[in-house]
Amino acid sequence: MRKIRSTGKKVKHVLGIETSCDETAAAVFTDDYEILSSVVLSQDEIHAPYGGVVPELASRQHMTFLNYVVQECLNRSRLKLDQIDAYGVTQGPGLIGSLLVGLSFAKGLAYYFKKPLIGIDHLEAHIEAAFLEEKQIPFPALALVVSGGHTSIIFMKKRLSYELIGKTRDDAAGEALDKIAKFLELGYPGGPIIDKLAEEGNPEAFSFALPRMTDRSLDFSFSGLKTAALRQIKEYKISQNHPGFLDFLASFEKAIIRALLHNLAQGIKRLKPKALILSGGVARNKKLRREFKEFAQQLHLKFIIPSAEFCTDNAAMVAALALEKLNRHLVTSFSWDLNAYPRFDSFNRKS
Ligand code: KG4
Ligand code: ZN
Repeated sequence: MRKIRSTGKKVKHVLGIETSCDETAAAVFTDDYEILSSVVLSQDEIHAPYGGVVPELASRQHMTFLNYVVQECLNRSRLKLDQIDAYGVTQGPGLIGSLLVGLSFAKGLAYYFKKPLIGIDHLEAHIEAAFLEEKQIPFPALALVVSGGHTSIIFMKKRLSYELIGKTRDDAAGEALDKIAKFLELGYPGGPIIDKLAEEGNPEAFSFALPRMTDRSLDFSFSGLKTAALRQIKEYKISQNHPGFLDFLASFEKAIIRALLHNLAQGIKRLKPKALILSGGVARNKKLRREFKEFAQQLHLKFIIPSAEFCTDNAAMVAALALEKLNRHLVTSFSWDLNAYPRFDSFNRKS
């Protein structure tokens, strides 16, 4: 990791910008570790008719609304742009067009106001969400990031050190939930809908095999679970009118949670962390939150699950991580040479 010399100026307000997928978000974070405002504009209604995110529509929405979202965030923070001391922006992974909108916007502001611009990795930001509300996290820590685009286990030996030790080889957990919901015509995004409906169902009614890797890796695979679910939908003619409909959803949700916690348990055995972090959009799921808590308590491990609003994509986690990196003079790239990256590439590193 490249170290950047300090500018010597104290950074008080950091503006974070997040446009990696289908949320347009801006937030201001202060050197007192306070979130002055966090504004998230969801595009769910735009993508709902298609049952998933349409990349071209997502970037157009960001282009149209990012300006307003940033302005609203500044208004709520009672700040003007010239009071922002540094900018943090999501650099990747994500949808390339969407990322470029946020990145170009942030570059323009940083260039005009001659302020530092820090590129932020989206998965690191999801983990940072845990630190927004809990400052005392013991290390080493193991983070499970579960979202619509990612399902990853990340080992943190110390603050700002990230080692990817498991990731999905196909679908992400959120993607599997969204796809099954789409198939059953439940609406988009499917994760929160299944979360709500599954509460009324019996999770033991349908059985799903635990996906296993043959190479002892901690990687996930949710495409097999999804195919197994589709097979059962056809076999038992599951639809919204089927008497076992809610049981089916509860069983599928349980299978996903079981797969997540199974790999996490393997990771704990190998790496012996002192704390567990759960984050990403799927971390809003009520059953997952409950089971993660019980799982950590049984192992006598400290656990951190961010509030729901900081689990799904937001810019508070981006601004907070940018400030942390600036304070420790640890930034991966700086200012005008920043480029967006759609995939993991730059993530798998230790600092
Ligand atoms: O982190 P996020 O906002 O975006 C990505 O980085 O992908 O996560 C979005 C994902 C979607 O798949 C959505 O269905 C899922 O998070 N999600 C949920 C819940 N709320 C959002 N999944 C299960 N239960 C929820 N309550
Ligand atoms: Zn995300």
